[in-house]
Amino acid sequence: MPHGHSLSVLKTIRSLSQTTRLCRAARGPVVLVPTMGALHRGHAALIEKARSLAGREGLVVVSIFVNPTQFGPKEDFSRYPRPFAADRMLCAAHGADVIFHPTAEAMYPTENSTLVDETDVSAVLCGAARPGHFRGVCTVVLKLLQITQPEVAVFGLKDFQQCAVIRRMVRDLNVPVRIVPVATVREADGLALSSRNRYLTAAERAQAPVLRRALRAASAAFHAGETRAAKLRQLILKTLATAPLAHPDYVEIADADTLRPVREVRRGTVFALAVFFGQTRLIDNLWLR
Ligand code: PAF
Repeated sequence: MPHGHSLSVLKTIRSLSQTTRLCRAARGPVVLVPTMGALHRGHAALIEKARSLAGREGLVVVSIFVNPTQFGPKEDFSRYPRPFAADRMLCAAHGADVIFHPTAEAMYPTENSTLVDETDVSAVLCGAARPGHFRGVCTVVLKLLQITQPEVAVFGLKDFQQCAVIRRMVRDLNVPVRIVPVATVREADGLALSSRNRYLTAAERAQAPVLRRALRAASAAFHAGETRAAKLRQLILKTLATAPLAHPDYVEIADADTLRPVREVRRGTVFALAVFFGQTRLIDNLWLR
């Protein structure tokens, strides 16, 4: 994407705060794209959306920080990929102005004892399967919003629950930012892009498109007239069972705002699932809009 901006990498909270304050006063809106790095085409779509929202004069900030507080003790924090040079190239190619790349010590000094707990939307789906995960996400996202003070923050809809939790946190805590969701980007065979796809073996990768197939089977059945959530859930599970390496963690049919299960499916309902392939846990969703 052609643009006339140069990319700088800022590591300290103070340098980022100063940069965004100056930009807001002199140039235009600040748009934040929070990420954990290992960037792919899904992130590229977020950065391009941020660029279009910021305009030529505004500032697009991509934060790259593998946030320790959102990983469980048995999860992949230490082996989470950190390909910074490639991430930097992707940010430059898609129109970012600033990469904020803080150290864990800068983000979490030892005396840090405040955590942000959204207690309703976080309680189900991935929140139930990964206790403490959304506390870590809310804490780091609120910190990033405070440091950056953006007008807009952009999040991918592949993490549907994360979008819902952050929308709720921002509303509840009166954070003056607009949250903009961006559609999931997929491989040609339907697999949603994720930094964790690289963990899949060749055999697992070959079966992973079953997530999308299962969601689309349920959506097709809904459009053909089936509205009973229990039946559609069964159809998703039956489709997943055609892939022997796929081990469902959860399959839920829920209201898109509350994320609570529904009995009758209608427009606005979301199909959400998490599936293990070996140690790798993939998530996907389909929102009936
Ligand atoms: O979606 C992610 O990559 C992370 O959960 C986020 C929002 C950057 C917080 O660490």
